[in-house]
Amino acid sequence: MGKRKDIRGKTALVTGASSGLGVDFARELAQMGANLILVARREERLKAVQAEIQAAHGVQVEVISMDLAQAGAPQVLYDQLKAAGKPVDVLVNNAGYGLFGMFTELPWEKQKNMLDLDIVALTHMTHLFLPDMVTRKFGAILQVASIGAYQPSPTYASYAAAKSYVLLFSEAVNYELRGTGVNVTTISPGVTATEFFKVAGQELTLYQRMVMMESREVARQGIRAMQRQRSSLVPGFVNAAGVFMMRLLPRRRMAALSNMMMTMK
Ligand SMILES: NC(=O)c1ccc[n+]([C@@H]2O[C@H](COP(=O)([O-])OP(=O)(O)OC[C@H]3O[C@@H](n4cnc5c(N)ncnc54)[C@H](OP(=O)(O)O)[C@@H]3O)[C@@H](O)[C@H]2O)c1
Repeated sequence: MGKRKDIRGKTALVTGASSGLGVDFARELAQMGANLILVARREERLKAVQAEIQAAHGVQVEVISMDLAQAGAPQVLYDQLKAAGKPVDVLVNNAGYGLFGMFTELPWEKQKNMLDLDIVALTHMTHLFLPDMVTRKFGAILQVASIGAYQPSPTYASYAAAKSYVLLFSEAVNYELRGTGVNVTTISPGVTATEFFKVAGQELTLYQRMVMMESREVARQGIRAMQRQRSSLVPGFVNAAGVFMMRLLPRRRMAALSNMMMTMK
């Protein structure tokens, strides 16, 4: 763990900044004096976040409406910022969504779009923005995975496995970066109060309501972990303890326990 990275006056790009965790990552970064570039599809929502943050923190906030799941979108975004001479010092790869349901019953096109966003776009964004940070010997990336990443998760099979990819990919790249002055930190939130479950198509279960965290708190912990150059973080005691205990179980049991927690009414 290194000393805390100062991001005052630096530029932070937050994807999925039109709702939920993305808005709170943006608020946290602005509070620390970073200028922001906010990306998501819903422009009106982005503009409302822009107005709120500019008024509250006096930092520069630019919004870019873009569907990152489209092939080549990260390249278009990178080229646009490069042409405008705007180096990105902090990247928060937060845009993502899940799909709740039996794997065989979820339409393929929906699953493919989710994987295109949660895996391909995140990896492409990392591949595009990281080299410039390494050249400048300064920068940080915060990847948003999930506690679903830590075990097989029936009813979220492909989503949770996508987050396993995010976690292991990002921890590996972070190791490759040692000594460069750049870090990739992964946050794996548990149930958090955002639009996630509405988008995923799941009504919250009793267990999920009981363990739910506020998104501002999750975002605060994620930004702090990134600044402290931690490799990985599971926010919240209950979530961290759950992940720790899951590791002690055989994989088959993990799937059964996870299924119970996600579907228990
Ligand atoms: N909430 C939870 O319980 C939880 C737990 C673990 C992990 N996570 C992860 O946390 C991250 C943030 O989700 P959230 O919980 O804050 O949910 P959310 O409120 O639904 O926010 C998702 C964000 O992603 C953006 N997005 C979705 N599709 C996009 C696309 N194709 N291109 C660009 N932006 C897109 C959405 O904006 P537009 O619709 O305007 O594009 C929105 O800003 C996700 O990666 C999610 O998997 C959430």
